[in-house]
Amino acid sequence: MSPVESMDVMVSLCKRRGFIFQSSEIYGGLGSVWDYGPLGVELKNNIKQAWWRAVVMERPDMEGLDAAIFMHPDVWKASGHVDGFTDPLVDCKSCKRRYRADELKDPKKCPECGGELTEPRMFNLMFKTFMGPVEETATTIYLRPETAQGIFANFDNVLTTMRRKLPFGIAQIGKAFRNEITTGNFIFRTREFEQMEIEFFVKPGTDQEWHEYWIKERLNWYKRFGINEENLRLHEHGADELAHYAKSCFDIEYRFPMGWAELEGIANRTDFDLRQHSQLSGKDLSYYDEQEKRRYIPYVIEPSAGVDRSLLAFLCDAYREEEVRGQKRVVLELHPALAPIKVAVFPLLKNRAQLVELAKKIADDLRGDFRTMYDDTAGIGKLYRRQDETGTPWCVTVDMQTLDDQQVTVRDRTTMEQIRIPIERVKPLISEYLQKAWQKP
Ligand code: GAP
Repeated sequence: MSPVESMDVMVSLCKRRGFIFQSSEIYGGLGSVWDYGPLGVELKNNIKQAWWRAVVMERPDMEGLDAAIFMHPDVWKASGHVDGFTDPLVDCKSCKRRYRADELKDPKKCPECGGELTEPRMFNLMFKTFMGPVEETATTIYLRPETAQGIFANFDNVLTTMRRKLPFGIAQIGKAFRNEITTGNFIFRTREFEQMEIEFFVKPGTDQEWHEYWIKERLNWYKRFGINEENLRLHEHGADELAHYAKSCFDIEYRFPMGWAELEGIANRTDFDLRQHSQLSGKDLSYYDEQEKRRYIPYVIEPSAGVDRSLLAFLCDAYREEEVRGQKRVVLELHPALAPIKVAVFPLLKNRAQLVELAKKIADDLRGDFRTMYDDTAGIGKLYRRQDETGTPWCVTVDMQTLDDQQVTVRDRTTMEQIRIPIERVKPLISEYLQKAWQKP
């Protein structure tokens, strides 16, 4: 069972605590488009940072890239997206609802009103726009549906400027856009989303070994940052599921509240993309293997993760409800590296100027090192509960005794244990905690 009983629980927590808001809410909202609020953007940045650290900074065989969203339109011809990036669309002749034919149990009957459905027509998922000030003479360009092509188009630039030898990879994080026929399940499937993609270039013949390597590596990353093993599984694509560019593909699936669904795809893209780009652009994208004294087009293993889906999975997996002294306590057991706020500081009594002043001073001092929150807008019990619900690992409370002994109380989110330490120990202690290996409770 998913750790969260329904997606509504997540939607409500995310709205209430400033993680995720509906886009353009004051105008009634824009369907399936979401904005990340103050805590959501912190969590998102922390996830991206954790990924970047693991796949770029900690590895000797990876380079980073930040390619533009707009690319030459021929990129999408070469990649096969202009012709092949389509889903079968059907309309209900009675209620006018639209569906993806391959997601329907009965391809002839509307699941809402029972009306007759049209024959499927192929619908291209790429968003089109125009480049240049005059629409008629402008070039039609696309919002990229995957970040991957920016990597393939820059393969030779990175290879030569960074003097790389195979095997090596290029990693990139960025927005992607798909005019999905059906969206939903909160941030699971949207039309604007963010990807974290690696294209790992290898010698043909070693691709299967590298494919297995990256599947293990990526599964371990989710576990390292707190996803329970029993909520992860692998799904191998059947021939009918494979994308036009892939020889084989494994999805890492997560047990979301609506059921098992894809979190990340890890595909063997063979030499499809580099070969296609070589042919259409006329630029030789082969690699000279000095040992073997021959040229060949590298094969590519592609671990492609969604930032938004990862964020949803980390939130769901961290969610815990329990009863403490007859009251419901909601706690997000997020990995401290992912937690949006690392430490919160409160005065025990907000009408004592000296306590407020000292608590604010402690918070200001911590702020330079950790994302810190100061709060005095409720009683201490409520302040703790708020932080538990947003996953803040540590809370620091300043009380009357602090004025005498210069010591504060530090409370742990998971155990709710409190220790008393000198003010000057707070910063080193939080640093130590953050560097320590973390185990999900
Ligand atoms: N370059 C390969 C590629 O784009 P994909 O399986 O279509 O492969 C990779 O997408 C990942 O991007 C998915 O596993 C998912 O996490 C995320 N993703 C894809 N479409 C999405 C959408 N409409 N909304 C949110 N995330 C999406």
